[in-house]
Parts: sequence; structure tokens; C-alpha cells
Amino acid sequence: MSALENRIPIFVLLSLALCAGVWADAPVSWFKDVNPIFKRSCNGCHNPNKLKGEVDTSTYTGLLKPGKHGPNFVAGQSDKSLLCLQVAGKEPEMPKEGDALSADEVALIARWIQQGAIDDTPTNAYSTRITESPVYSTPPVISAMSFSPDGHYLAISGYHETFLFDATNLTLVSRLLGEAPRIEGLAFSPDSKVLAVAAGAPARFGEVQLWDVASASEVHAWKLGSDSLFGISWSPDGTRLAFGGVDKSVRVIAAADGHEVLKFDNHSDWVFRTAWMADGKRLLSGSRDRAMKLIDAGSGQFIDDINKLLEPILSMARHPREEWAVYGGTEGGLRIYKAKENQERTDANNDVNQVRSFERQPGAVHAVAFSPDGTLLVAGGAGPEVRIYRTADGARTATLTGHTGAVFAVAFSPNGDRVFTGGFDGLVRMYDPATGHMNGIFTPIRLIPPPEVVGN
Ligand code: HEC
Repeated sequence: MSALENRIPIFVLLSLALCAGVWADAPVSWFKDVNPIFKRSCNGCHNPNKLKGEVDTSTYTGLLKPGKHGPNFVAGQSDKSLLCLQVAGKEPEMPKEGDALSADEVALIARWIQQGAIDDTPTNAYSTRITESPVYSTPPVISAMSFSPDGHYLAISGYHETFLFDATNLTLVSRLLGEAPRIEGLAFSPDSKVLAVAAGAPARFGEVQLWDVASASEVHAWKLGSDSLFGISWSPDGTRLAFGGVDKSVRVIAAADGHEVLKFDNHSDWVFRTAWMADGKRLLSGSRDRAMKLIDAGSGQFIDDINKLLEPILSMARHPREEWAVYGGTEGGLRIYKAKENQERTDANNDVNQVRSFERQPGAVHAVAFSPDGTLLVAGGAGPEVRIYRTADGARTATLTGHTGAVFAVAFSPNGDRVFTGGFDGLVRMYDPATGHMNGIFTPIRLIPPPEVVGN
């Protein structure tokens, strides 16, 4: 025994022994054998969004990056690999919480490293692609809804897909089946020809899809980051797309080839919404960190927080004519702000950009939209009612009832004569904004009834 090993406590020696055992020949697979152990016992603390000890055990690529104290493994030498040493022994260091790995599991990890720590991850291993559109027995939750600016189309989120409707006769034109299961944001290009979709698979990847509306074909699908993306919006000239994400960033990419134009990392929580100012030079973001931030879309420089930080922001919309933006928050707040620098802020008045605060909503406000001429504002969320207000004086002009669950999406038709709502119950409701009268209700997709249960 070397002098060094003499000074190593006994439990370390034990784990050394376990990690340097006798090697059975049967090959051990990273993907089939080792990855599932980490998935169950380790990835909760060691993933790209929660990097305890700077270690990511969730993918082979993640493991290749050294942790705080060096490489996770040395191929061919499990007795020199932290990954094995940390889980072996009588009182293993890892997992930090929960049950220790079984002797068999430790042996699998040791043998995998000993055999060369080979990556046998299949190329489509983390794909969530499905080959056919889903069959639904209950309507999928509606998280996003958007009209094309020319008024011809209405896009509604589904599961793994977006439903494209003819907005005049409300018939389903096509089902845009993509890879990501969760559709979080929908926006038509200013010329109405392309539909942008912000989506993702929680804790796996984010995705931006671009669909050619006329042919209903996917022109691009870019995977970005390791979690869902939200709140996608087009620059007024139709060349760039902005969106937020679980990773707290705001990104701008080029619509032509997807290259990243800028990444803004000034938020400290999920970014749910983005909106471009009419000049195309400034961009607004709304986040769970309670701030609406104004960003220079050219340089990516932070310009200012435009609001007083009152509550996490869930929804946001830019006024079509004024340099204003409205937000809806978790506490039921609904407020309009001037979307500009906030320099006159004083101790006495630290919310100088606020234009109007509306009556408190009956629950968290998940969706807001201005009417096309900006005179009305619609807000919906956790409360049972969706409400319409006059922008000019904040008076409530209509109350839309009939919802049986939270509302996540609201949209005015481009000519302003209809308001659509959608949410948890998966039903699209159509209202007259002047009277609040509901004049239509439908599921975006025909439902297949579940098989009848026979017998007792
Ligand atoms: C409950 C949270 C948690 C779980 C579960 C967990 N770890 Fe850790 N792990 C940590 C923390 C915290 C650190 C950082 C310790 C430090 O820096 O001293 C860490 C550090 C590590 C390190 C680096 C050790 C070093 O000395 O640098 C490795 C390797 C590791 N963990 C492997 C694993 C493996 C393998 C599993 C699953 C069997 C696992 N961890 C499960 C919290 C966890």
C-alpha cells in the first residue's frame, strides 16, 4: 500500500476496492444500463439546469464535462473515477439524498467505465418525434392561439401539433405535426405567410418551428437549449424572431437560417413573453422575475426595467398604436406601461411609467390582448371570467362567462368583431366583444371516444 493510500480513510478504501473489482466480460451499455440508474438517482441534482458540484449526469455529453473537482471518469480506470468512487462503499457520498445504489448497480457503473466508458446513445435517443398525429379522447389543453394578420387563419395549440383553422368558416385546414410535445407560443409573420411556434419538451429541449402556411409544411425546426421556449414574436420587418425560455434568457434568431442574433441574460427567472416595439429596434420581455425589460435589439444591451416590480409576469401584449405594453400577473394585476426608459423615477414615485392599473382580476392573468385598434383590452386566466376593458379609462365593458377551467389564450380577430378564448378544458369559445355574448364553442379536433368498459 502506498503512503498516500495509508492516509485515506477506510470507507474510501472500501469504495476503491469496489471500483476496482474483477471484471466480468458481459458488455455494459451506457444507454441501457447506466443512464437509467442516473436518471432515477442522480439527474434530479445533476442536470443542465441544476448543476450540483458542476456535474451533469443526464447525458453522456454532460458527463464528459469535468465537475468542480475534475473529470467525472477516466475511461478504463473506474478506481480513479469520481463517478464510481462517489457511489460505492458502505456510506457512499452520492446520491446526496435518497437510497444508496445497490451493489449490482455500482458494479454496472464500474464495469462500464472499466470497459472504456463507451457512448452507445442511439442517434434518435432523445427524440420525442411521433410519426402520426395524436388521437384524442379529451381535448388537448389550449396554451396558445393566434390569428394571421390578414385574417385568413387561426392557429390553435394542440399536443405535439398546431391546428391551423380557416378563420372565416372555422374549419380545420391542417394539422402541423412537429417534434416537441408542448406548444407554448404561436405567431404569424407580418405577411401572414409563416407561422412560428415556440415549443419544447420540459427538461429536455426547446424548439422553434417555422411552418409555411400555404403548403402546411415545416420549413425549419431548430432545437435550442434544454427546456421549453415561450412567447415568440416577430420583428416588424419579419426577419427576426424573439422568444423567452425556462433558461431565463431572451433570444433573437434570424428567421432565414436560425442563427442566434442575440442572447439576453438579464432576467433571473423564466421569461414568458416577448414583444417588439414598432421601430424594430427595441424589444420588450416579461418574466416571472416580475420585470418587463426593455432591450436594445441591435446590441442586446439592457435599457431599463419599465415597471415597478410588483408580481411575477405571466402575460404581456404591446399596444398596436401607442408605445405601451400591458402585463398580467400572478396576483391578478393588470397594468399598462409606457414602454420606454424610466429615467424620471424618484423615491416618491418609483413607478413613473405606469399609465393605468385595472381592477384586480379574480386570479392569475395568463393571457392578455389588445383589440386591433387598441381601444379594448381582453384579459383571462385562473379566474372563471374573461373580462374586456376600455383602454382609455379602464372601465370594464364586457364579462365573458362559461369557462370551466383556467384560460391560457385570448385573441381578437383581426377585424375586431370576435374574441376567442381557450384553456384548460380544451374548448374554443367565441364571443361578441361588444356584448360579451358567447356565439360559438368547439373543440379544435374531433374526439375519439375511449372504449366502453364492458362488464363490472
Ligand atoms: C440531492 C442532490 C444530489 C443527488 C440526488 C446526487 N448528488 Fe451528486 N452532488 C450533489 C452535490 C450538492 C454535490 C457537490 C458536493 C460538493 O461540491 O462538495 C455533488 C457532487 C457530485 C460529484 C462530484 C464530486 C466531487 O468531489 O467533485 C459527483 C461525481 C456526483 N455528485 C455524482 C452523483 C451521482 C452518480 C449521483 C447518483 C447516484 C448523485 N451524484 C446524486 C448533490 C446530489
